[in-house]
Amino acid sequence: MNIIEIIDKKRLKKELNYDEINYAFMGYLNGDIESYQMSALLMAIVLNGMSDEEVYHLTDVFINSGDILDLSKINGVIVDKHSTGGIGDKTTLIIAPIVASLGVKVCKMSGRGLGYTGGTIDKLESIPGFNVNLTDEEIIKEVNTIGMAITSQTKNLTPLDKVVYALRDVTGTVESIPLIASSIMSKKIASGASKILIDIKVGEGALIKTKEDALKLSELMKNIGNHYNREVRTLITDMDRPLGRTVGNLLEVVEAASILKGYGKDTYLYKVCIDIASNMVSMALNTPIDDSITLVEKVISNGEAYRKFLEFIKYQGGRLEDAALSKKTRVIKSDRMGEIKEINALKIGMLSASLGSSKFSVDDQIDYGVGVVLNKKVGDVVKFGDPLCTIYIGDKEDYPNPLDAFTIE
Ligand code: URA
Repeated sequence: MNIIEIIDKKRLKKELNYDEINYAFMGYLNGDIESYQMSALLMAIVLNGMSDEEVYHLTDVFINSGDILDLSKINGVIVDKHSTGGIGDKTTLIIAPIVASLGVKVCKMSGRGLGYTGGTIDKLESIPGFNVNLTDEEIIKEVNTIGMAITSQTKNLTPLDKVVYALRDVTGTVESIPLIASSIMSKKIASGASKILIDIKVGEGALIKTKEDALKLSELMKNIGNHYNREVRTLITDMDRPLGRTVGNLLEVVEAASILKGYGKDTYLYKVCIDIASNMVSMALNTPIDDSITLVEKVISNGEAYRKFLEFIKYQGGRLEDAALSKKTRVIKSDRMGEIKEINALKIGMLSASLGSSKFSVDDQIDYGVGVVLNKKVGDVVKFGDPLCTIYIGDKEDYPNPLDAFTIE
Protein backbone atom coordinates (compact mmCIF):
# COMPACT_ATOMS: atom_id res chain seq x y z
CA MET A 1 0.00 0.00 0.00
CA ASN A 2 1.17 3.49 -0.76
CA ILE A 3 0.23 6.71 1.01
CA ILE A 4 0.50 8.81 -2.16
CA GLU A 5 -2.01 6.57 -3.94
CA ILE A 6 -4.36 6.89 -0.94
CA ILE A 7 -4.09 10.70 -0.97
CA ASP A 8 -4.65 10.70 -4.76
CA LYS A 9 -7.70 8.49 -4.42
CA LYS A 10 -9.31 10.87 -1.92
CA ARG A 11 -8.30 13.87 -4.06
CA LEU A 12 -10.20 12.22 -6.94
CA LYS A 13 -13.26 11.75 -4.69
CA LYS A 14 -12.98 7.96 -4.64
CA GLU A 15 -14.00 5.93 -1.60
CA LEU A 16 -11.25 4.57 0.68
CA ASN A 17 -11.61 1.07 2.13
CA TYR A 18 -10.86 0.01 5.72
CA ASP A 19 -7.33 -1.17 4.97
CA GLU A 20 -6.38 2.11 3.30
CA ILE A 21 -7.78 4.21 6.15
CA ASN A 22 -6.11 1.99 8.73
CA TYR A 23 -2.78 2.08 6.86
CA ALA A 24 -2.75 5.88 6.56
CA PHE A 25 -3.98 6.81 10.05
CA MET A 26 -2.27 4.11 12.12
CA GLY A 27 0.84 4.75 10.05
CA TYR A 28 0.70 8.36 11.21
CA LEU A 29 0.35 7.31 14.86
CA ASN A 30 3.29 4.90 14.50
CA GLY A 31 5.50 7.47 12.78
CA ASP A 32 5.55 5.68 9.38
CA ILE A 33 3.51 8.39 7.66
CA GLU A 34 4.83 11.97 7.74
CA SER A 35 2.72 14.84 9.08
CA TYR A 36 2.75 16.61 5.67
CA GLN A 37 1.28 13.46 4.09
CA MET A 38 -1.41 13.16 6.76
CA SER A 39 -2.13 16.90 6.39
CA ALA A 40 -2.67 16.42 2.64
CA LEU A 41 -5.01 13.50 3.25
CA LEU A 42 -6.95 15.44 5.91
CA MET A 43 -7.35 18.41 3.57
CA ALA A 44 -8.59 16.09 0.79
CA ILE A 45 -11.17 14.72 3.30
CA VAL A 46 -12.20 18.26 4.31
CA LEU A 47 -12.71 19.21 0.65
CA ASN A 48 -14.22 15.99 -0.70
CA GLY A 49 -15.98 14.55 2.34
CA MET A 50 -16.40 10.90 3.30
CA SER A 51 -19.13 8.33 2.76
CA ASP A 52 -20.85 6.93 5.87
CA GLU A 53 -18.95 3.68 5.29
CA GLU A 54 -15.61 5.56 5.34
CA VAL A 55 -16.63 7.37 8.52
CA TYR A 56 -17.39 4.01 10.23
CA HIS A 57 -13.96 2.72 9.15
CA LEU A 58 -12.22 5.82 10.52
CA THR A 59 -14.20 5.63 13.79
CA ASP A 60 -13.18 1.98 14.12
CA VAL A 61 -9.52 2.81 13.55
CA PHE A 62 -9.68 5.58 16.20
CA ILE A 63 -11.37 3.28 18.75
CA ASN A 64 -8.97 0.39 18.20
CA SER A 65 -5.91 2.63 18.55
CA GLY A 66 -6.26 2.56 22.37
CA ASP A 67 -8.05 1.17 25.43
CA ILE A 68 -11.80 0.67 25.76
CA LEU A 69 -13.42 1.32 29.15
CA ASP A 70 -15.30 -1.58 30.68
CA LEU A 71 -18.28 -0.23 32.63
CA SER A 72 -19.91 -3.62 33.19
CA LYS A 73 -19.25 -3.44 36.96
CA ILE A 74 -21.49 -0.38 37.25
CA ASN A 75 -25.01 -1.26 38.34
CA GLY A 76 -27.74 0.59 36.45
CA VAL A 77 -28.14 2.45 33.18
CA ILE A 78 -25.28 4.79 32.27
CA VAL A 79 -25.93 7.75 30.00
CA ASP A 80 -23.00 9.75 28.67
CA LYS A 81 -23.22 13.35 27.57
CA HIS A 82 -20.99 15.37 25.29
CA SER A 83 -20.99 18.97 24.17
CA THR A 84 -19.20 20.09 21.03
CA GLY A 85 -17.91 22.96 23.16
CA GLY A 86 -18.60 26.60 23.77
CA ILE A 87 -17.93 29.64 25.91
CA GLY A 88 -19.31 29.46 29.45
CA ASP A 89 -20.56 25.91 28.96
CA LYS A 90 -20.89 24.59 32.50
CA THR A 91 -23.79 22.25 31.70
CA THR A 92 -22.02 19.03 32.80
CA LEU A 93 -21.68 20.40 36.34
CA ILE A 94 -25.42 21.04 36.45
CA ILE A 95 -26.81 18.08 34.53
CA ALA A 96 -24.78 15.27 36.11
CA PRO A 97 -26.11 15.84 39.67
CA ILE A 98 -29.67 16.32 38.36
CA VAL A 99 -29.80 13.00 36.51
CA ALA A 100 -27.77 11.16 39.17
CA SER A 101 -30.31 12.21 41.80
CA LEU A 102 -32.95 10.53 39.59
CA GLY A 103 -31.03 7.22 39.53
CA VAL A 104 -29.34 7.65 36.14
CA LYS A 105 -25.66 6.70 36.36
CA VAL A 106 -23.13 9.25 35.13
CA CYS A 107 -19.55 8.20 34.52
CA LYS A 108 -18.03 11.13 32.74
CA MET A 109 -14.54 11.51 31.28
CA SER A 110 -14.08 15.23 30.77
CA GLY A 111 -11.40 17.33 29.20
CA ARG A 112 -9.37 20.45 29.88
CA GLY A 113 -9.68 23.68 27.96
CA LEU A 114 -7.13 25.19 25.62
CA GLY A 115 -7.12 28.75 24.28
CA TYR A 116 -10.47 30.46 24.67
CA THR A 117 -12.45 27.32 25.51
CA GLY A 118 -12.87 26.13 29.07
CA GLY A 119 -12.87 22.50 30.15
CA THR A 120 -14.96 20.83 32.85
CA ILE A 121 -11.82 19.41 34.49
CA ASP A 122 -10.30 22.90 34.90
CA LYS A 123 -13.57 24.12 36.42
CA LEU A 124 -13.57 21.29 38.95
CA GLU A 125 -9.90 21.88 39.76
CA SER A 126 -10.81 25.40 40.84
CA ILE A 127 -12.18 23.71 43.98
CA PRO A 128 -9.28 23.10 46.41
CA GLY A 129 -8.66 19.40 47.04
CA PHE A 130 -10.85 18.15 44.18
CA ASN A 131 -9.39 14.96 42.68
CA VAL A 132 -9.79 14.70 38.90
CA ASN A 133 -7.47 11.70 38.54
CA LEU A 134 -9.58 8.70 39.53
CA THR A 135 -8.51 5.12 38.89
CA ASP A 136 -10.93 2.70 37.20
CA GLU A 137 -11.71 1.14 40.60
CA GLU A 138 -12.38 4.54 42.17
CA ILE A 139 -14.70 5.53 39.29
CA ILE A 140 -16.71 2.32 39.56
CA LYS A 141 -16.94 2.57 43.39
CA GLU A 142 -18.07 6.22 43.25
CA VAL A 143 -20.71 5.67 40.56
CA ASN A 144 -22.07 2.62 42.40
CA THR A 145 -22.12 4.59 45.69
CA ILE A 146 -23.38 8.08 44.79
CA GLY A 147 -24.47 7.64 41.15
CA MET A 148 -21.92 9.85 39.45
CA ALA A 149 -18.23 10.57 38.91
CA ILE A 150 -16.41 13.10 36.74
CA THR A 151 -12.75 12.49 36.03
CA SER A 152 -10.10 13.30 33.50
CA GLN A 153 -9.18 10.60 31.05
CA THR A 154 -7.29 7.91 32.95
CA LYS A 155 -6.85 5.28 30.28
CA ASN A 156 -5.23 5.65 26.93
CA LEU A 157 -8.49 6.19 25.02
CA THR A 158 -8.29 6.92 21.27
CA PRO A 159 -4.61 8.08 21.20
CA LEU A 160 -4.88 8.32 17.41
CA ASP A 161 -7.62 10.94 17.70
CA LYS A 162 -5.36 12.97 20.00
CA VAL A 163 -2.51 13.23 17.48
CA VAL A 164 -4.81 13.72 14.49
CA TYR A 165 -6.77 16.44 16.32
CA ALA A 166 -3.52 18.26 17.20
CA LEU A 167 -2.53 18.19 13.52
CA ARG A 168 -6.00 19.32 12.36
CA ASP A 169 -5.76 22.23 14.78
CA VAL A 170 -2.69 23.64 13.00
CA THR A 171 -3.58 22.75 9.38
CA GLY A 172 -7.03 24.31 8.99
CA THR A 173 -8.70 20.89 8.92
CA VAL A 174 -10.85 21.01 12.05
CA GLU A 175 -14.06 22.06 10.32
CA SER A 176 -15.08 18.84 8.60
CA ILE A 177 -18.29 17.05 9.54
CA PRO A 178 -16.96 13.49 8.93
CA LEU A 179 -13.77 14.25 10.91
CA ILE A 180 -15.65 15.87 13.81
CA ALA A 181 -18.23 13.06 13.94
CA SER A 182 -15.65 10.25 13.95
CA SER A 183 -13.43 12.07 16.46
CA ILE A 184 -16.21 12.65 18.99
CA MET A 185 -18.06 9.37 18.51
CA SER A 186 -14.91 7.25 18.77
CA LYS A 187 -14.20 8.79 22.19
CA LYS A 188 -17.77 8.23 23.35
CA ILE A 189 -17.82 4.60 22.17
CA ALA A 190 -14.41 3.87 23.74
CA SER A 191 -15.75 5.40 27.00
CA GLY A 192 -18.21 2.53 27.23
CA ALA A 193 -21.72 4.03 27.60
CA SER A 194 -24.56 2.48 25.62
CA LYS A 195 -26.68 5.66 25.64
CA ILE A 196 -25.19 8.94 24.54
CA LEU A 197 -26.59 12.47 24.43
CA ILE A 198 -24.73 14.95 22.21
CA ASP A 199 -25.26 18.69 22.62
CA ILE A 200 -24.29 20.24 19.27
CA LYS A 201 -23.50 23.90 19.74
CA VAL A 202 -24.16 26.12 16.77
CA GLY A 203 -23.30 29.80 16.25
CA GLU A 204 -20.55 32.41 16.33
CA GLY A 205 -18.82 31.01 19.42
CA ALA A 206 -18.97 27.39 18.26
CA LEU A 207 -17.12 25.08 15.91
CA ILE A 208 -20.31 24.59 13.87
CA LYS A 209 -21.51 27.91 12.51
CA THR A 210 -24.78 27.01 10.73
CA LYS A 211 -27.93 25.08 11.59
CA GLU A 212 -27.59 23.19 8.31
CA ASP A 213 -24.16 21.82 9.26
CA ALA A 214 -25.40 21.03 12.78
CA LEU A 215 -28.20 18.92 11.27
CA LYS A 216 -25.73 17.06 9.04
CA LEU A 217 -23.45 16.38 12.03
CA SER A 218 -26.43 15.21 14.07
CA GLU A 219 -27.53 12.76 11.37
CA LEU A 220 -24.02 11.37 10.96
CA MET A 221 -23.48 10.91 14.72
CA LYS A 222 -26.77 9.04 15.02
CA ASN A 223 -25.76 6.80 12.09
CA ILE A 224 -22.43 6.03 13.81
CA GLY A 225 -24.36 5.28 17.03
CA ASN A 226 -26.64 2.89 15.13
CA HIS A 227 -23.66 1.21 13.54
CA TYR A 228 -22.22 0.49 17.02
CA ASN A 229 -25.58 -0.40 18.56
CA ARG A 230 -25.59 2.69 20.81
CA GLU A 231 -28.60 4.89 21.38
CA VAL A 232 -27.65 8.43 20.38
CA ARG A 233 -29.81 11.51 20.80
CA THR A 234 -28.70 14.97 19.74
CA LEU A 235 -29.78 18.47 20.67
CA ILE A 236 -28.82 21.55 18.69
CA THR A 237 -28.33 24.54 20.98
CA ASP A 238 -27.37 28.15 20.47
CA MET A 239 -23.81 29.43 20.97
CA ASP A 240 -24.05 32.95 19.58
CA ARG A 241 -23.50 34.37 23.04
CA PRO A 242 -21.83 32.96 26.18
CA LEU A 243 -23.88 30.28 27.92
CA GLY A 244 -24.99 31.77 31.23
CA ARG A 245 -23.69 34.84 33.04
CA THR A 246 -20.17 33.68 33.85
CA VAL A 247 -17.00 32.66 32.05
CA GLY A 248 -14.03 31.52 34.17
CA ASN A 249 -13.46 28.37 36.19
CA LEU A 250 -14.58 29.05 39.77
CA LEU A 251 -17.13 31.63 38.61
CA GLU A 252 -18.76 28.90 36.50
CA VAL A 253 -18.83 26.45 39.44
CA VAL A 254 -20.60 29.14 41.49
CA GLU A 255 -23.12 29.74 38.69
CA ALA A 256 -23.73 25.98 38.31
CA ALA A 257 -24.47 25.80 42.05
CA SER A 258 -26.93 28.67 41.80
CA ILE A 259 -28.83 27.01 38.92
CA LEU A 260 -29.02 23.81 40.99
CA LYS A 261 -30.42 25.88 43.86
CA GLY A 262 -33.25 26.92 41.53
CA TYR A 263 -32.07 30.40 40.52
CA GLY A 264 -32.05 31.66 36.94
CA LYS A 265 -35.13 29.78 35.74
CA ASP A 266 -35.75 32.39 33.05
CA THR A 267 -32.28 31.95 31.51
CA TYR A 268 -31.19 30.11 28.36
CA LEU A 269 -28.64 28.19 30.45
CA TYR A 270 -31.47 26.78 32.59
CA LYS A 271 -33.47 25.83 29.49
CA VAL A 272 -30.50 24.05 27.87
CA CYS A 273 -29.82 22.14 31.11
CA ILE A 274 -33.47 21.06 31.42
CA ASP A 275 -33.46 19.92 27.76
CA ILE A 276 -30.26 17.88 28.11
CA ALA A 277 -31.09 16.40 31.53
CA SER A 278 -34.65 15.43 30.57
CA ASN A 279 -33.46 13.70 27.39
CA MET A 280 -30.87 11.75 29.41
CA VAL A 281 -33.54 10.75 31.92
CA SER A 282 -35.94 9.80 29.13
CA MET A 283 -33.26 7.62 27.50
CA ALA A 284 -32.30 5.89 30.76
CA LEU A 285 -35.74 5.39 32.30
CA ASN A 286 -37.73 5.09 29.05
CA THR A 287 -40.04 7.89 30.20
CA PRO A 288 -41.82 10.30 27.81
CA ILE A 289 -40.04 13.62 27.53
CA ASP A 290 -42.80 15.61 29.33
CA ASP A 291 -42.66 13.27 32.34
CA SER A 292 -38.87 13.49 32.30
CA ILE A 293 -39.01 17.30 32.39
CA THR A 294 -41.34 17.10 35.42
CA LEU A 295 -38.90 14.75 37.20
CA VAL A 296 -35.92 17.01 36.44
CA GLU A 297 -37.69 20.17 37.65
CA LYS A 298 -38.79 18.37 40.81
CA VAL A 299 -35.25 17.45 41.92
CA ILE A 300 -34.15 21.04 41.39
CA SER A 301 -37.10 22.45 43.35
CA ASN A 302 -36.80 20.02 46.27
CA GLY A 303 -33.02 20.52 46.61
CA GLU A 304 -32.06 16.90 45.80
CA ALA A 305 -29.97 17.87 42.76
CA TYR A 306 -28.05 20.51 44.74
CA ARG A 307 -27.43 18.04 47.59
CA LYS A 308 -26.10 15.53 45.02
CA PHE A 309 -23.74 18.24 43.69
CA LEU A 310 -22.37 18.85 47.21
CA GLU A 311 -22.10 15.10 47.88
CA PHE A 312 -20.16 14.61 44.62
CA ILE A 313 -17.72 17.45 45.34
CA LYS A 314 -17.08 16.15 48.85
CA TYR A 315 -16.69 12.55 47.62
CA GLN A 316 -13.91 13.61 45.25
CA GLY A 317 -12.16 15.56 48.02
CA GLY A 318 -13.26 19.09 47.07
CA ARG A 319 -13.54 21.81 49.70
CA LEU A 320 -15.93 24.39 48.27
CA GLU A 321 -15.64 26.46 51.44
CA ASP A 322 -11.93 27.07 50.70
CA ALA A 323 -12.44 28.17 47.06
CA ALA A 324 -11.67 31.84 46.45
CA LEU A 325 -12.34 34.22 43.58
CA SER A 326 -9.85 36.93 42.70
CA LYS A 327 -10.19 39.86 45.07
CA LYS A 328 -9.45 42.44 42.42
CA THR A 329 -12.41 43.28 40.22
CA ARG A 330 -13.21 45.96 37.66
CA VAL A 331 -16.68 46.98 36.56
CA ILE A 332 -16.87 47.70 32.83
CA LYS A 333 -19.34 50.49 32.15
CA SER A 334 -21.17 51.28 28.94
CA ASP A 335 -19.65 54.11 26.89
CA ARG A 336 -22.96 54.79 25.12
CA MET A 337 -26.71 54.38 25.41
CA GLY A 338 -28.79 51.95 23.39
CA GLU A 339 -29.87 48.35 23.13
CA ILE A 340 -27.37 45.49 23.50
CA LYS A 341 -27.52 43.77 20.10
CA GLU A 342 -24.71 41.29 20.64
CA ILE A 343 -22.41 39.92 23.32
CA ASN A 344 -19.72 38.18 21.29
CA ALA A 345 -19.03 34.75 22.81
CA LEU A 346 -15.61 34.41 21.24
CA LYS A 347 -14.48 37.84 22.50
CA ILE A 348 -15.72 37.14 26.04
CA GLY A 349 -13.90 33.78 25.87
CA MET A 350 -10.70 35.51 24.75
CA LEU A 351 -11.07 38.13 27.49
CA SER A 352 -11.42 35.47 30.19
CA ALA A 353 -8.55 33.40 28.74
CA SER A 354 -6.32 36.52 28.64
CA LEU A 355 -7.09 37.13 32.30
CA GLY A 356 -5.65 33.65 32.93
CA SER A 357 -8.66 31.30 33.02
CA SER A 358 -7.21 28.92 30.45
CA LYS A 359 -3.93 27.94 28.89
CA PHE A 360 -2.52 29.10 25.58
CA SER A 361 0.29 26.58 25.78
CA VAL A 362 0.73 23.44 27.86
CA ASP A 363 3.20 25.18 30.20
CA ASP A 364 0.85 28.04 31.18
CA GLN A 365 -0.61 28.15 34.70
CA ILE A 366 -4.37 28.59 35.09
CA ASP A 367 -5.65 31.27 37.46
CA TYR A 368 -8.85 29.67 38.76
CA GLY A 369 -10.27 32.80 40.38
CA VAL A 370 -10.37 35.05 37.29
CA GLY A 371 -13.05 35.53 34.66
CA VAL A 372 -16.02 37.57 33.53
CA VAL A 373 -19.51 38.07 34.97
CA LEU A 374 -22.02 39.54 32.55
CA ASN A 375 -24.27 42.10 34.20
CA LYS A 376 -26.50 42.52 31.13
CA LYS A 377 -27.94 40.30 28.43
CA VAL A 378 -28.70 40.73 24.74
CA GLY A 379 -31.83 42.86 24.32
CA ASP A 380 -31.26 44.93 27.49
CA VAL A 381 -31.34 48.71 27.06
CA VAL A 382 -28.47 50.54 28.76
CA LYS A 383 -27.55 54.11 29.58
CA PHE A 384 -24.08 55.65 29.52
CA GLY A 385 -22.22 54.38 32.59
CA ASP A 386 -24.40 51.32 33.22
CA PRO A 387 -22.35 48.25 34.24
CA LEU A 388 -22.02 45.74 31.37
CA CYS A 389 -19.76 43.19 33.01
CA THR A 390 -17.45 42.69 35.96
CA ILE A 391 -14.04 41.22 35.39
CA TYR A 392 -12.10 39.29 38.03
CA ILE A 393 -8.42 40.05 37.58
CA GLY A 394 -5.34 38.15 38.72
CA ASP A 395 -1.71 38.75 37.75
CA LYS A 396 -2.39 39.28 34.06
CA GLU A 397 -3.26 42.88 33.23
CA ASP A 398 -2.77 42.60 29.48
CA TYR A 399 -6.28 41.77 28.29
CA PRO A 400 -8.42 42.97 25.36
CA ASN A 401 -10.85 45.86 25.81
CA PRO A 402 -14.01 44.26 27.30
CA LEU A 403 -16.19 46.87 25.55
CA ASP A 404 -15.22 45.32 22.18
CA ALA A 405 -17.35 42.27 23.03
CA PHE A 406 -20.55 44.35 23.20
CA THR A 407 -22.51 45.74 20.26
CA ILE A 408 -24.77 48.51 21.52
CA GLU A 409 -26.95 50.51 19.08
N1 URA B 1 -14.27 17.98 19.49
C1 URA B 1 -13.63 16.81 19.26
O1 URA B 1 -13.40 16.03 20.17
N2 URA B 1 -13.26 16.51 17.99
C2 URA B 1 -13.49 17.32 16.95
O2 URA B 1 -13.14 16.98 15.84
C3 URA B 1 -14.16 18.53 17.20
C4 URA B 1 -14.54 18.84 18.49
